[in-house]
Amino acid sequence: MKVLVTGGLGYIGSHTCCSLLDNGYDVVVLDNLSNSKIDVLDKIKEITGKEVKFYEGDMIDRAFLEEIFETEKVDAVIDFAAYKAVGESVSKPVEYYINNVSTVLVLLDTMKKYNVKKLVFSSSATVYGDPDKVPIKETDKTGGTTNPYGTSKLFVEQILKDLYKSDNEWDIAILRYFNPIGAHESGLIGEDPKGIPANLMPYIAKVANGELECLSVFGNDYDTHDGTGVRDYIHVVDLADGHIKALEKLEKEGSGLYIYNLGTGVGYSVLDIVKAFEAANNIKVNYKIVDRRPGDIAECYADSSLAYKELGWKATKNIEDMCRDAYNFVVKNSK
Ligand code: WQD
Repeated sequence: MKVLVTGGLGYIGSHTCCSLLDNGYDVVVLDNLSNSKIDVLDKIKEITGKEVKFYEGDMIDRAFLEEIFETEKVDAVIDFAAYKAVGESVSKPVEYYINNVSTVLVLLDTMKKYNVKKLVFSSSATVYGDPDKVPIKETDKTGGTTNPYGTSKLFVEQILKDLYKSDNEWDIAILRYFNPIGAHESGLIGEDPKGIPANLMPYIAKVANGELECLSVFGNDYDTHDGTGVRDYIHVVDLADGHIKALEKLEKEGSGLYIYNLGTGVGYSVLDIVKAFEAANNIKVNYKIVDRRPGDIAECYADSSLAYKELGWKATKNIEDMCRDAYNFVVKNSK
């Protein structure tokens, strides 16, 4: 089976490409390198011993997309290509809606033209907004999103539901990621954001590695066990494997629209993560408590039992694995 992976050189995309190759899939990657590096191609080959076919360009470019579909005869698409910085999305809503929504419309229209109707879509727990209760189930309320990033994911989910309603031949898996962290055990690929990291784990890893001075903990007055924000952190390799299981489901079913939470079902606070990171790597992480970050919510973690029941998938790596692998990547790739 040949799979087109959009955003395939990015953090989650590159780990998923490795899982796909390890599971015998042929992989074609489309990436515009806006938040990824071309040398990830070589890293994927070093990890798997296999090559992917790479196309550099933008999904919004219909002619470019059609050239890929004409040439490659793909059987399915995994769509990762999106901007994903919550804070940035608040200040750049139009860029986020163009990049995260308009591009998907061009992709779907092109898939339809070439009769490719198997799609795994990278969605997010942010579609739940500020949840009324935790753990969160797929059937819980979505909406009330607190930023354009989360809203863009909600829009695409609705587009996919409307598409499936219009044509039941579509075969779609929507995967709602919680908080992906960690890196491949080789340290060759990992979370490598351009500039100052917006997310917690890459920031902690750079503080530990001396590249940044001190972690700012965004508020300790939330209604949680220690006052700091609680999230469901999941190892990126577990997340990648969830995509393989989703593809297998699509191959088995032939058509349908499926939604799954990909999380561990365990919530850790910011200070829990700091302590776990220090223990796993036997290192000190300097931090200070500062004001809350606008748009943040107190608590968010998954009920991921449906993915286990229907896909046979569950997370296998623990918080120590996540902290160790995240730090290993930063140390191996520090300038
Ligand atoms: C986690 C916790 C912060 C940085 C993001 C995005 C999206 C999604 C998941 C895919 C919060 C605290 C953070 C820092 C801190 N990915 N924090 N100091 O906001 O839960 O979600 O990742 O869809 O990318 O929605 O992740 O890592 O930014 O924050 O105290 O320097 O760490 O307040 O409690 P978030 P995050």
